[in-house]
Amino acid sequence: MGNSDFLRGSFRRTVRASLAVLGLAALASGCVDEDTVYNDRPFGDDPPASAGGMLGYLQGQAGETTCAQCHATPSSTWATTAHADAWNGLQDSGHAQEFCEACHSVSELGNAETEPVGWTATADARYVDVQCESCHGPGSTHVANPEANQPIPSLAVGSDLTNGCGECHNGTHHPFVEQWEMSKHSEVIGFAAARTECASCHRGQGTLLAWGVRSNYVERDSEEPLAVVCGVCHSMHDNTFEGQLRFPVNTPDVQVHLCARCHNRRSVPDANSSHGLAPHSPETELLVGEAGWIPPGADLDYGAIVASHGTTNNEKLCATCHVAMYTITDQATGEFVFEAVGHTFQAIPCVDSEGIPNGETDCAIETQARSFAGCVDSGCHSTEEGAAAILNFRGDFVAQQAAALLAQLEVVDPNLDEPGGEIDAGTSTFTVAEGAFFNYNLATHLGDVYGSTTHNGPWIRALLEASIVAVEDEYGVAPPAP
Ligand code: HEC
Ligand code: HEC
Ligand code: HEC
Ligand code: HEC
Ligand code: HEC
Ligand code: HEC
Ligand code: HEC
Ligand code: HEC
Repeated sequence: MGNSDFLRGSFRRTVRASLAVLGLAALASGCVDEDTVYNDRPFGDDPPASAGGMLGYLQGQAGETTCAQCHATPSSTWATTAHADAWNGLQDSGHAQEFCEACHSVSELGNAETEPVGWTATADARYVDVQCESCHGPGSTHVANPEANQPIPSLAVGSDLTNGCGECHNGTHHPFVEQWEMSKHSEVIGFAAARTECASCHRGQGTLLAWGVRSNYVERDSEEPLAVVCGVCHSMHDNTFEGQLRFPVNTPDVQVHLCARCHNRRSVPDANSSHGLAPHSPETELLVGEAGWIPPGADLDYGAIVASHGTTNNEKLCATCHVAMYTITDQATGEFVFEAVGHTFQAIPCVDSEGIPNGETDCAIETQARSFAGCVDSGCHSTEEGAAAILNFRGDFVAQQAAALLAQLEVVDPNLDEPGGEIDAGTSTFTVAEGAFFNYNLATHLGDVYGSTTHNGPWIRALLEASIVAVEDEYGVAPPAP
């Protein structure tokens, strides 16, 4: 036994006042932390020499991390997360084997270490559960000198990385990183990430800043932009919202909903922007009937037409359809094949012959080619075939309306949105053809009508119909005969 000096904090016990709470954050950069307490108690015994500097739980006190002796808040909130109970979850499953343990304990997984440390090096009980050091890395040098050696975690994600969430959240039972890599959230649009005005949605660091996350992580001040990584949507040590999310998804309130915070850029035409005739992530407003251009004289009001997909009947809004989780079993044997965890963020993902999402986006709208599990598991539709049939039927109708409107607009202004003519985003005058063109773009946003049809079919049909009438009234151009 023998308490080591480096684990004995020799500090005055003070609690730092939070300047951020007083609104003085700008003056106080670098030294704001109301939760860090200097502690003068001994922290326990030396960790085993082979542990690679991992401290783990105070010996004999499962659940009580060494870090918690000084970092009060992240520790008490971490204790409410599933990470703090990961070892019991494994043991209670009845399937625990040695090979399972590294992901359910403090080890080289999740941090910059690459050789066995913590549990995998020692099998010492202080290393059970996914603790602070799983993500932050070894803490012994920090505890010896807190000001100098701070274990700053990384938010980078990728199946080829040797740190981060993906080192544990992978494989057929929890393929979060693999599915996320198939999603657009893993992509960075360089020119958008580089511009301050776009960074709050297109650069992970910018989003976190916009959301008030001031704490440090490896990439925080890097030139290299982060995509919409796990740590943008998920909180590290806070389980206030289900799924450890930074903002809830189990709310129909679009002011609060996680997805709505980015998917709400431009949903009505903007006469002052050279991109003003193109919707830009309009999904949120469309869902609640607030998107699009209402032609003068049309008997339509924003918010008056909301399909059940956008009402409180749909408890998670976007996440019901776009984060659908389901288990795939072998049809012949019933054996487990794959857990689809919904992190491609596709509502009706294209799937391979076993039913596993394959990351493609242009397959047919039919149950052979796609999973419609989100429509059924939510309890909203009784069969996948039924949901696919409705989408095809309603989608065809919207596609015909959109084609008719486009045919009219091509007569009114043959070069459409090229400069010159009735449709020209570069001029400050706003024409009926421009409003109608915006609605056409809204209906066909990102290449097809299935999104708009699902987000709010009745509203998009009403907008297209009113646009067809308005263009005929204004320019005397009738839609083509059906
Ligand atoms: C002896 C007390 C003490 C212990 C134990 C301790 N820390 Fe710290 N830690 C500090 C102090 C003091 C700071 C500096 C806080 C400041 O700048 O306001 C700090 C800073 C940090 C920071 C940087 C915070 C930021 O926003 O930049 C991280 C991360 C951190 N500690 C993680 C840990 C982890 C993980 C453990 C457990 C392995 C741990 N600490 C254990 C006292 C401690
Ligand atoms: C590659 C890392 C990894 C390995 C190896 C691993 N797990 Fe896990 N396990 C996870 C992750 C990540 C989760 C959380 C997944 C989620 O929430 O969907 C998890 C969740 C679980 C849960 C659910 C816990 C609960 O409270 O519901 C059980 C049970 C479990 N694992 C058992 C096992 C068993 C048994 C093995 C070995 C046969 C194993 N795990 C191997 C990473 C791993
Ligand atoms: C799942 C990974 C993960 C775990 C587990 C984790 N952290 Fe963190 N922690 C991070 C990341 C990433 C950040 C920076 C981004 C953020 O704050 O959201 C961070 C930030 C911090 C900070 C600086 C911000 C603050 O809140 O003051 C401290 C201190 C900290 N963690 C301590 C801890 C302690 C103590 C534990 C265990 C009780 C712990 N962390 C567990 C990943 C983790
Ligand atoms: C050392 C492996 C490991 C690392 C690193 C890790 N996790 Fe986990 N995570 C797990 C395990 C294991 C569980 C399941 C625990 C249980 O339920 O018993 C889990 C559970 C979760 C859950 C809760 C799931 C639920 O059912 O509520 C979330 C959310 C989560 N992890 C997100 C993250 C994020 C985000 C990161 C990176 C910042 C991360 N994890 C890093 C192993 C890890
Ligand atoms: C765009 C936002 C977003 C990103 C990025 C994201 N998630 Fe999630 N995650 C969610 C949502 C939404 C849920 C579902 C919560 C619900 O339905 O209650 C979820 C659920 C989870 C769960 C809990 C699953 C369960 O069993 O309940 C885990 C674990 C998780 N995510 C891990 C990750 C990991 C690891 C990454 C990065 C590879 C990641 N997430 C990236 C939004 C996100
Ligand atoms: C931090 C901002 C942010 C949040 C939060 C966010 N997204 Fe995204 N999302 C984006 C960006 C940016 C893109 C486009 C990235 C690209 O094209 O490179 C995107 C793309 C998508 C796409 C793919 C669109 C396409 O081109 O096919 C879907 C679907 C999607 N998000 C759904 C969701 C859902 C569902 C949620 C909530 C669980 C969510 N997003 C939360 C920023 C966000
Ligand atoms: C409020 C959040 C937000 C802001 C701010 C934002 N975007 Fe986006 N952007 C998104 C989301 C979400 C998507 C993906 C969903 C979609 O396109 O409907 C996206 C998609 C894109 C796309 C891909 C669209 C396509 O047709 O494939 C480009 C390019 C883009 N944004 C550029 C920019 C630029 C440049 C800026 C700054 C001038 C910017 N964005 C500002 C949220 C935002
Ligand atoms: C009732 C199910 C459902 C809900 C609710 C839903 N979506 Fe969708 N979404 C879909 C379907 C279906 C598609 C079309 C997918 C395809 O074409 O592959 C889609 C398409 C999209 C796209 C691609 C662009 C497009 O218009 O095709 C984005 C981005 C998106 N949704 C984001 C969101 C966001 C953000 C929310 C919440 C504000 C949301 N969705 C709510 C089902 C839904």
